[in-house]
Amino acid sequence: MKLILDTGNVEEIKLLSDILPIDGVTTNPTIVSKEKKKFTDLIAEIGEIVGEDIPIHAQVLSTKCEDIIEEAQFISALRKNMYVKIPVTSEGLKAIKELSKRGINITATAIFTAHQGFLAAKAGAKFVAPYVNRLDNISADGVGTVNDLVQIIDQYGFDCEVLAASFKNAQQVLELMRCGVHSVTVPPDIARAMMNHPLTDWSVDQFIKDWENAFGKGSKTNN
Ligand code: E4P
Repeated sequence: MKLILDTGNVEEIKLLSDILPIDGVTTNPTIVSKEKKKFTDLIAEIGEIVGEDIPIHAQVLSTKCEDIIEEAQFISALRKNMYVKIPVTSEGLKAIKELSKRGINITATAIFTAHQGFLAAKAGAKFVAPYVNRLDNISADGVGTVNDLVQIIDQYGFDCEVLAASFKNAQQVLELMRCGVHSVTVPPDIARAMMNHPLTDWSVDQFIKDWENAFGKGSKTNN
């Protein structure tokens, strides 16, 4: 499963990508707007941190097919390993179909049904991003929708991965890992919730205390 960071905050990306083996960074217009930096500068900064082999996903603002195509080509040319996020409106789907023929990497986004995900995959998107928490918030079944989409993509052998997005807690991620989701994009707080446990820290403290009681303060296995 690919683990992607859903943030545009360069300090967080630096810190977390030093610790975790991340497989990419996703942004959207809301995420970018929080950083108060010029879009192209921000993508360049993120690229510097993660390196050219790690994908960055960034989203178009245009809503008409021809404009989406133009904007997508601009974003795609910003660096190697750039994925252009396109919402799955009807204009978006039309653009995905054309852009994927031209070899542009597309991440279809703002997906709320398995049908939309299927259509985007069929149009040539390399990733399809269903919004788990936004579905849960409207009393729909975020995890169930992603599960359906994973089965559809695998069953028909699409060259496409389900990139589950929009998380509010680590439990949602765990449930998707159980159903074999291909990739998840998580904000920094959820990455930390997946990584940290107070009992791990407590256990480490206890090991050190026991060792130092027996062998003296500051001693280690190698001295
Ligand atoms: C990422 O690709 C999505 O744009 C993002 O996960 C949406 O998250 P939100 O629902 O928390 O805004």
